[in-house]
Amino acid sequence: MINNIHKWLVIRLALVCLVLSLVIGGLVQYFGHIRLDNHVIRMAQTETAPYAAQFTSYLQSPTEATLASFGRIINGLIKNDNLIVVEFYDADAQKITEVIKPVATEIEKGLPKHGAEFALAEGIICEKITMDRDIFLRVFIPLFDSVGSKSGFIEGIYHAPDEIIAQNRSQTFWALILVVLIIFVTSLTLYPLIIRLNRKLVDYSHILALTNIGMLKVLGSAIAKRDSDTNIHNYRVMLYSVRLGEKLKLSPVAIQGLIKGSFLHDVGKIAIPDAILLKPGKLTVEEFEIMKTHVGHGGDIIRSYDWLKDADEVVRCHHEKFNGSGYPQGLIGEEIPLNARIFAVVDVFDALTSRRPYKEPFSVEASLKIIGEARGSHFDPVIVDLFLVQTESLCAEICYEEEAVLHGKLEECIKTYF
Ligand SMILES: [Fe+2]
Repeated sequence: MINNIHKWLVIRLALVCLVLSLVIGGLVQYFGHIRLDNHVIRMAQTETAPYAAQFTSYLQSPTEATLASFGRIINGLIKNDNLIVVEFYDADAQKITEVIKPVATEIEKGLPKHGAEFALAEGIICEKITMDRDIFLRVFIPLFDSVGSKSGFIEGIYHAPDEIIAQNRSQTFWALILVVLIIFVTSLTLYPLIIRLNRKLVDYSHILALTNIGMLKVLGSAIAKRDSDTNIHNYRVMLYSVRLGEKLKLSPVAIQGLIKGSFLHDVGKIAIPDAILLKPGKLTVEEFEIMKTHVGHGGDIIRSYDWLKDADEVVRCHHEKFNGSGYPQGLIGEEIPLNARIFAVVDVFDALTSRRPYKEPFSVEASLKIIGEARGSHFDPVIVDLFLVQTESLCAEICYEEEAVLHGKLEECIKTYF
């Protein structure tokens, strides 16, 4: 159980780590790109600003002489910055001049051409272009004269410096590492907390189960007081049933049903009149019909509590017979639930070997003979065979023990299965 919860938790925390790392890692990368783009745009706009100022100055007095002077200035400017091409256009989108770095000729061929809409733009436009691992920015800056009319525009191609890209990638990488580390450490911190909470939950569940079992014992004891004035029958049939269930490799859940059913199998006898229940002699046909109703009464009593639902098979079907001659439904063979088929054998065996108001106990040998003779008629032959094989060990462990010893064994069973 404990190992299972560790494995369960490790797998789920690992999955949560993975999903969170992918999602948050993706966001870190996305915002890293946004940060790089914004940084490059700011740099491109800053570096383009002096060209705009010089071109505005030229447009105020456009002559051959000022064009030559303007050309010298912009050729000087482009040497020291990251712009690789700057083109200057008048208001009619006619190119006035351009400056271009030698490396730009090849690069420019690979860049997509801009559309005519840029000439109509009323504000600065930046268009990002990624080629291989390089980032380029096409910048359009419209220029306006003193009265607000468009006097021309500049188109520049900015090549983002490698060191800026590398720095951004490095920042994004370390941010990713940090995020994954935080998620991992958080999960490691949560692990013992979840285990501790789970242990508390298991403890509370165990306390709740013990409370329910206490109620089970009280109910079983109440009917024992009316019937045989002792709990020992309940203890023995429960232990016989559990041992057979274990030999049949029943699941712990099925054995829980067997334990509950063993305690409560005759709880419906509370509704049977004393004159019939405690009658020392043989019951009349009418009295036996009334006695048979105890299985229905038992079902009615436990139905109102969900926790007892798995006792229902034994309570309702412990008087069914394998050949269909039992009551109340006359179920045949495997129509009878397995827990009820197991219980039927041990209930009759214990009744035979016990003293009752109306009879002396049979010997174990005589009881086994009766059980064997009812193989396939009253009882499931497979269960009878198993019981007969186990009789020696079952009798040694259970049959002749005192009530206090059996109660101790019962507590062990409860610890094992609840
Ligand atoms: Fe019964």
